[in-house]
Amino acid sequence: MRGIKYLLIITALLLALAFVLTKFVFKGGNDKEGAENAETGETVTVSVSETETTPPPEEEEDENIDNKWAMFLVNKKNPLPADYDSRIETKVVFESWREYFLDVRAAGYLEKMLKAAENDGIDLYVVSAYRTIEYQQQNFDNSVQDRVDRGMSYDDAYADTLAEVALPGESEHNAGLALDIMVEEYQNMDDDGFEDTEAFAWLDKHAAEYGFILRYPKGKQEITGIIYEPWHYRFVGVYYANEIKKSGLCLEEYYEQQGWTDGNGKAVKMRGPWDEDDKKNAPAETTAPKETEPKKTMAATPYSEQKATIIV
Ligand code: DAL
Ligand code: ZN
Repeated sequence: MRGIKYLLIITALLLALAFVLTKFVFKGGNDKEGAENAETGETVTVSVSETETTPPPEEEEDENIDNKWAMFLVNKKNPLPADYDSRIETKVVFESWREYFLDVRAAGYLEKMLKAAENDGIDLYVVSAYRTIEYQQQNFDNSVQDRVDRGMSYDDAYADTLAEVALPGESEHNAGLALDIMVEEYQNMDDDGFEDTEAFAWLDKHAAEYGFILRYPKGKQEITGIIYEPWHYRFVGVYYANEIKKSGLCLEEYYEQQGWTDGNGKAVKMRGPWDEDDKKNAPAETTAPKETEPKKTMAATPYSEQKATIIV
C-alpha cells in the first residue's frame, strides 16, 4: 500500500516536470506567434508559412498554359540570340520535292493539324518551314536582287524586301516555329490570292486549335513591319493561339496589351530564349568573388550585326 502511494507521488512529480519543460524550455520552434523582436522590443507576429525556407515561385504557373516556352517575340526589335540555332532540335514534318523541318516540340501539333485538314478534305501544302540563318540570308539577298533586276534602286529594293523577308536572326523561320502553308495548286506569294482558298478558310477556323496563329494579319503592317502574309503561321501553343485569335490582335499588339513590351516594342517579359539566358547568366548565389568585367555573351549580339555570318 505504501509502495503504491510512493509510485503515485513520483508519477505526479514527473508529470509536473514535463509540464514545466514544455511551457518554458521548448517555447519557440515553429510557433513564433507573439515572439519578441530583439532589436525593437516590439511584438512581431510571424506565421508558420512565412518561416518556411522555400521561396515562392517567380510567376504563378497557370496549368491551362501549354508550351509556354514557344511564346516569344521574334522580329526586328527582338532578334534571336546568336546561338539559338544550336539550341533547338528540328524534325521533318513535311515532304514534297524536299524535306521541311520544325522544332521537334511543335512538330506533333503540325502533324495533327495536317491530318485534321486532310480528314476535312483539305490538302495543306508546306512551302517553307525551319530555315537556317544562311538560307534566310540567301532569301533576303535574292529578294533584293530580284527587285534591282526589275529596275529598282538598291536602297528601294532593300527597303521593299525588309517588309517581306526578315533579316537573318529576325525571322521566326530561324526559330523553327514558323511555316508557310499553301495548297499545291496555289503557291503564289506575290499577291493575297491564297486568302480566297478553302485551305485558308480552314486554317483561319482551325489553326489555333493546334497552337498556330496567322502571324502577319491583314491591316497590321504598320505594327508588324511585314506585309499581310495569309500563308505564314507561327506556333505559340494552344492556349496563347486561342487567346490571340479571340483578341483579334497581332502578336506585337498582344504583347503590348499584356504589358510584356516596353514603349519601344522590346519584350521585357515572356522573352523565351532571353529569359533562359538571364537565368543562365544570373550570378550564382555563392560567396565566390564577382568578375570585374561582365562577360560579353553571344546572345547579346543580333545576327544582323554579325557581318561574318552574311553570305553574299
Ligand atoms: N516572311 C517572313 C517575315 C520571314 O521571312 O520570316
Ligand atoms: Zn513565312
